[in-house]
Amino acid sequence: ARIAAVIPAAGRGLRLGPGAPKALRSLNGTPMLVHAVRAMARSRAVSLVVVVAPPEGAAEVRTLLDGHALAARGTTEVIVVPGGETRQESVRLGLAALPGDVTGVLVHDAARPLVPVDTVDAVAAAVRDGAPAVVPALPVSDTVKEVGPSADGGPEPVVATLERARLRAVQTPQGFDRGTLLEAHEKVALEGEGATDDAGMVERLGVEVVVVPGHEEAFKVTRPLDLVLAEAVLARRRA
Ligand code: CTP
Ligand code: MG
Repeated sequence: ARIAAVIPAAGRGLRLGPGAPKALRSLNGTPMLVHAVRAMARSRAVSLVVVVAPPEGAAEVRTLLDGHALAARGTTEVIVVPGGETRQESVRLGLAALPGDVTGVLVHDAARPLVPVDTVDAVAAAVRDGAPAVVPALPVSDTVKEVGPSADGGPEPVVATLERARLRAVQTPQGFDRGTLLEAHEKVALEGEGATDDAGMVERLGVEVVVVPGHEEAFKVTRPLDLVLAEAVLARRRA
């Protein structure tokens, strides 16, 4: 079994505010994408990383990655391909670049640069053990409510309160049997429907997705405050 990581890094990072594409923004002097590639390369289970770069930025990303030491052991192969308009499209383009001998795939957001290697290993181990789909997840701390549409621009009405104890906030890397993930992407593309994560597409196939423990440091850098947190986590690691 050979496991590859696909890193979608083609987003613009609109919620982070103006600047370079999110994956190329620095955390304590090192681009977020470099942190993310290292996080995957650190896992012994991962022997290949496919980086899905901003559509016009593949050459720049190749140069950037060539200029950084990515793996301590130096054995992880890195492929760079241009991405698409949506995350789903970017992942699909990354999957299309996988060599034939890859049997398992971890899909990991460049926007989760600080995921610990133990989390990556746990997801990879579950895939190795035969799970068709695995997600790392944490309990949620906020109460989550469903709202309805607002009437004439007024406040949104609450329509339901979900049972918090049963909810999980899902992170990446999400791990898959290669064939299952490809089938899920093909089906969703045919139906023309969007999905916010890869496991969600696999669920629509009727395939069971299992959960392993996530990690607080695998949080997604989405808004400006997340940059503050990420830099503080890095500083604490170096202390
Ligand atoms: N992504 C991608 N291709 C896209 C859109 C997103 O590869 N067309 C990637 C992002 O680079 C990121 C991951 O998907 O690593 C998760 O997406 P998100 O956090 O939403 O990042 P952005 O889409 O870049 O941010 P925003 O939604 O705020 O614009
Ligand atoms: Mg986005």
